[in-house]
Amino acid sequence: MENFQTPQFPESYWRDSVKLPTFPKLQESIKVDVGIVGGGITGITTAYLLAKQNLKVALLDAGVILNGTTGHTTAKITAQHGLIYDEIIQHFGIEKASLYYQANAEAKQFIEQTVDQHRIDCDFKKEDAYIYTNAKSYLTNLENEKKAYDQLKIDSELTDKIPLNMLVKSALIMKDQAQFHPLKYLKVLTEKSKENGVQFYEQTTAVDVEHNNNPAIVTSEGHRITCKYVISASHFPFFDKESFYFSRMYAERSYVTAIKSPKDFPGGMYINAESPTRSIRSTSMNGEDLWLISGESHKTGQGDSTITHYNKLKEFAHRHIGINDVVYRWSAQDLTTLDKIPYIGSITKNEDTILVATGFRKWGMTNGTIAAKILTDQILEKDNPYKELYTPSRFQADPAVRKFARMNADVAKHMIKGKLEYTKNNIDELSTDDATVTRINGNRTGVYRDQNNELHMVDTTCTHMGCEVAWNSGDRTWDCPCHGSRFSYTGEVIEGPAKRPLAKIDNE
Ligand code: FES
Repeated sequence: MENFQTPQFPESYWRDSVKLPTFPKLQESIKVDVGIVGGGITGITTAYLLAKQNLKVALLDAGVILNGTTGHTTAKITAQHGLIYDEIIQHFGIEKASLYYQANAEAKQFIEQTVDQHRIDCDFKKEDAYIYTNAKSYLTNLENEKKAYDQLKIDSELTDKIPLNMLVKSALIMKDQAQFHPLKYLKVLTEKSKENGVQFYEQTTAVDVEHNNNPAIVTSEGHRITCKYVISASHFPFFDKESFYFSRMYAERSYVTAIKSPKDFPGGMYINAESPTRSIRSTSMNGEDLWLISGESHKTGQGDSTITHYNKLKEFAHRHIGINDVVYRWSAQDLTTLDKIPYIGSITKNEDTILVATGFRKWGMTNGTIAAKILTDQILEKDNPYKELYTPSRFQADPAVRKFARMNADVAKHMIKGKLEYTKNNIDELSTDDATVTRINGNRTGVYRDQNNELHMVDTTCTHMGCEVAWNSGDRTWDCPCHGSRFSYTGEVIEGPAKRPLAKIDNE
């Protein structure tokens, strides 16, 4: 394979191709009807819907809006969420599987109508969605999924040919799905929300919720947003209320490369059924097809060197598509719940004023949109047909409990393993833009030498529950293998459940 350079720094095409508005930091305590934490698709769509109902809304983001998973997605608008419907039918029955499909189909329809209504120029395009396999062992899974589609009356077809010039053993098509540029779409929803009075604040970190008569979101600077309802749309919930969300979800990272190919894109959106995942779609960049090849998911903090994952995607692209240029690369973090169905609704059973939406697996465009509708209906005290399906307090013994035990065994393993592992590199030999873990004054210390030769040293003990973080060379972050917290190389929290930064270590 020719050695196509991977861009040195990760950057999402979505973020690089749109100019988003910026917002001030919250400087005082305020009072609103609804306080939303998190400026991704869920938070912004909810703000948009609530403001249309004349509710006073404030939306906070710890960084800048649309820079989390929504800014790094593959942005497929589809109810085809990998192989899922046969599994839902087996575990929960046809009624729940049908509701899951309807919810995501409704979300797709909502996005389409909103694009039409505001004439949003966001490259919205109808496409069929394909799950394909090249593994004999997955043929039965695809057949069973097709039977599930038929039971649910989903317009679909089983085929052994796909428009991509790739040999496949079988592929299941879900007809009439869609794709778009998520940030062009959400930029307009942000602007419309602002026109309707939503107050946006960036660089404003929510750290807690106080409960007197009304809940109040407390920020790291001590300001309070007193409201009737709090919505946690911060990917990992910023507030847990002792409901242990970290033990009911696991975090995975996955990777995207955007390439130019000598071939024209033939249409369609693709994902394979087996591992490692390969997902393919295109978008248009300056009139040219940009192929988005993604996959290589692994549990956060537990993968190979990050560059290896990007290289595997490039090898795949080279073999099947041909590469003229690798234009962008980026990665995303996704959270999966115990039963693969997101948690949307009251944070705990008896708590009606603090709401949460999380655990969208890799399907946040539709799940995030339906979350916005469910939460809006809950606040407006309107019935919603999907409320019960997604309620975070549901309990399903099968298969959730078995998985719960497995996940916690995995955490225990990493808790111990991390404490024992060191790389013995001498810091003096550390090259620029590289990191190692070593022992300094008895402390397990993560050391990163930046491009200006400056050393950044942090205590590698995760501030959530004490696992040891691992270096992520692609994103230059310290990632926790236990519940997916991520920290910058200077130790700041990028992603929870951790709330406090890694302790800095002096190089004295
Ligand atoms: Fe839980 Fe690090 S995220 S211990």
